[in-house]
Amino acid sequence: MELCIALDLPTAKENLELVRNVKDYNVWLKVGLRTFIRDGEVFLKEIKNINQNFKIFLDLKLYDIPNTMADAAESIMGLGVDMFNIHASSGSRAMQTVMKRLDKYETRPIVLAVTALTSFDESEFKAIYEDDITKKANQFAKEAMESGLDGVVCSAFESKDIKNITDNQFMTLTPGIRPFGEEVGDQKRVADIQFAKNAKVDFIVVGRPIYQSENPVEVVKKILNQI
Ligand code: C5P
Repeated sequence: MELCIALDLPTAKENLELVRNVKDYNVWLKVGLRTFIRDGEVFLKEIKNINQNFKIFLDLKLYDIPNTMADAAESIMGLGVDMFNIHASSGSRAMQTVMKRLDKYETRPIVLAVTALTSFDESEFKAIYEDDITKKANQFAKEAMESGLDGVVCSAFESKDIKNITDNQFMTLTPGIRPFGEEVGDQKRVADIQFAKNAKVDFIVVGRPIYQSENPVEVVKKILNQI
């Protein structure tokens, strides 16, 4: 299991300070909407300047018509990131179109599909998808695998089932991790590290429990010890 730190701080300066503090640790860094919209490609370069070995997950959750998603995926190829994601609810045709477009490249980033956001509870999810989270997340995972994606974003509660119904290499990445029982914030389906381990999660994403703590590096060290 690997740790992916969400760089969701209010300014590039604060995010880069966090990156510098963890530069000697084997961690992934997640650049999401807020940070990428504000700081763009330059920010990605600054991360790599701090340590070339940092792996970057670009969390933009693409959702659009198939051709537009494939165009965006191709633009992402030019950014040199190691992982990005698209929404499974954009449909199998969109997912296949994205993967087909990336076929021509010798190497490509890991591509994940978002199943159910970890901020949804059952009733909020049902209001949109008219189904149970578990059932729908499993279906999305199967469609993503059949469309050639490498894995899914889900909560730790869906991970084990998804692992059981997909092949060995199919990965799960789980946000909503509160390693040591910290504040949940807007997240609804949260789990701790041991739960994620038991659910065979490949990547845990941790944001606020790290960057809002008094000593982020200590929290990172503690998490890495446990995983
Ligand atoms: O601060 P916290 O640990 O809750 O951060 C979780 C991060 O993971 C945020 O950047 C959020 O956008 C992202 N994320 C999520 N749920 C998903 C996909 C991404 O919380 N399904």
